[in-house]
Amino acid sequence: MINPEEFLVFLKERRSIRSYLDKPIPEKEIEMILEAGRWTPSASNKQPWEFLVIRDKELLRSISKKAFYGLHIKRAPLAIAIVGKIKENPYYYIQDTSFVSMSMMLMAWSLGIGTCWIGALERDVVKEMLGLDESDYLLTILPMGYIKGAIPQPPMRKSLSQITREI
Ligand SMILES: Cc1cc2nc3c(=O)[nH]c(=O)nc-3n(C[C@H](O)[C@H](O)[C@H](O)COP(=O)(O)O)c2cc1C
Repeated sequence: MINPEEFLVFLKERRSIRSYLDKPIPEKEIEMILEAGRWTPSASNKQPWEFLVIRDKELLRSISKKAFYGLHIKRAPLAIAIVGKIKENPYYYIQDTSFVSMSMMLMAWSLGIGTCWIGALERDVVKEMLGLDESDYLLTILPMGYIKGAIPQPPMRKSLSQITREI
């Protein structure tokens, strides 16, 4: 088990990273990130997902052009596309794959690898680039790389009193 105090600090210190070193990520570390995804909980344990590891520079460049706030995708040595298999669980594929993305981001962070959730994406176009089936849902593309430069300051969080109430 992880020390809870340290775990909370770890969660607070994770940042979205948009600048990456031009340094390959070792296979062992990629595998650990994928394993973290594989061990994510899912509704009825259906695991309605697929992970695509993208290293092709040209493809990363093309994807970045279809992401409104994702220019950094083309600067990453690698990205993982998280795909929801709608047919395998039409009710919970979004929740399940969203949890996967968090597992992967946290695993990456523990390895000193920065990631950034890409939301604003022309999903249909990118789906085609990735050769995905019409029935697949492209949740996000997570660009990944060792952190270049300083870790950004934490963006403001609402206070607990703003977002919590006793009922
Ligand atoms: C659903 C979702 C969509 C996001 N989309 C983008 C995006 O398209 N481009 C980007 O640069 N960051 C994106 N982000 C990252 C957020 O901007 C970031 O998580 C937030 O500002 C808090 O910063 P932090 O992750 O460093 O704590 C997204 C995050 C989430 C959870």
